[in-house]
Amino acid sequence: MLILGIESSCDETAVALYDDQKGLLAHDLFSQVALHALYGGVVPELASRDHIRRILPLLKNVLTTAGCVLKDIDAVAYTKGPGLVGALLVGSAVAVSLAWFLGVPTIPVNHLEAHMLAVYLEDKTPDFPFLCLLVSGGHTMLIKVFGIGTYELLGQTLDDAVGEAFDKVAKMLQLSYPGGPAIEKLAQYGDPLKFVMPRPMLHRGLDFSFSGLKTHVLQLVKNHNVDDQVAADIAAGFQVAVVDTLLFKVQKAMRQSGCHRLIIAGGVGANKYLRDSARAMADRNNFEIFYPDKKWCTDNAAMIAVTGCKRFHDLLELNYAISVLPRWPIF
Ligand code: KG4
Ligand code: ZN
Repeated sequence: MLILGIESSCDETAVALYDDQKGLLAHDLFSQVALHALYGGVVPELASRDHIRRILPLLKNVLTTAGCVLKDIDAVAYTKGPGLVGALLVGSAVAVSLAWFLGVPTIPVNHLEAHMLAVYLEDKTPDFPFLCLLVSGGHTMLIKVFGIGTYELLGQTLDDAVGEAFDKVAKMLQLSYPGGPAIEKLAQYGDPLKFVMPRPMLHRGLDFSFSGLKTHVLQLVKNHNVDDQVAADIAAGFQVAVVDTLLFKVQKAMRQSGCHRLIIAGGVGANKYLRDSARAMADRNNFEIFYPDKKWCTDNAAMIAVTGCKRFHDLLELNYAISVLPRWPIF
C-alpha cells in the first residue's frame, strides 16, 4: 500500500511517499523560515500563500524521486490539525481533491500524534508501553503510549511550550528565527554556570511551566550589557535549565508510569544537548531510549505518511470533505 503524506500546518510545506512494505520512498520539504524571519515569527497569511505556491511542485518532485505516478497512490494522509487554519486548509484541499480524483481514501492525521509516531520511520522502534516526551513549538507533554491510538496525558505545560520559550528567549538575545537552533548554536560558546537560572515547578507533579524562566532571562537581558559572550552564557544557562527541567520530570514520569522505554519527539527533540543528556540519563537508569532522526523531529510529511499507514484502518474516510481542526486534542 502506497500512502501519500501532506503536511502544511505551520511554516513547512512537505510531501512524502510511504510504502507499508518498503518504508519511506521519497520526501521533500520547503521551509518558509527565510520568509518569516523578517517578521521574527510566522505570519499566518504569508504561510498560507506560500503553501499554495510550493505544494504541487513538491508533489511532482516526490513522485519523480520515488519513480511513481499518481495512479500508484492508495491513500492520501494529510494534517487535519492542530495548526494555522489557513495553512491547514491548503494541505487538506490538495489532499482531499487528489484523493477524490484518484478514488482513494483520505486519512486525516493529528499533527501531534504524527510527531509521536515519527519514531516508526526508524529501524529500531520501541515496544509498548512507552513514555513520550513531546516537545514542539506549540506543545510540551508527557504521554504514556499504550499502543497506536491509545494515549494517556501525564503532564503538560501550564503556559509556554518549550519551543516557544526557546523562540522568545532567542528574540530577547536578538537571534534569528526559529530560536531553538540559534540558541543551541550560540550555547556552544557559553558558560552555563555563569548565570543561575531557575528550574521551574520541579516538585509540583508532572506539569511544566516555562514562563518564569523566560521572565528570568528577560530580567538578565535588561540588567546586563549583552555582548556576544554574555548572550552565549545566557543561551547556555537557559538551555541547560530547560533540559534539566524536562529530564527531571521525565524520570519522575518513568517511575510513576512504570515505563522502561522513552521516546523524544517534536522540534525541540532535534536539540543535541537534550538528546545527549537524555541518552546519558537513560543509561544511568537502565531504560531504553529512542528518538527519530533530527530531520523527523521538526515538521515533515514522512511522519504524516507513516502515521497514516499505522492508523489506516481507524481513520480512513471516503467523504471527501475539506475540513480542518486548528485545535485538536488527542486525549
Ligand atoms: O515540531 P516543530 O517543528 O513544530 C511544531 O509543531 O511546533 O517545532 C518547532 C519548534 C520551534 O519552537 C523551534 O525553535 C524548536 O522547535 N526547535 C528547537 C531546535 N530545532 C527546532 N529547539 C531547540 N533546539 C533545536 N535544535
Ligand atoms: Zn510540529
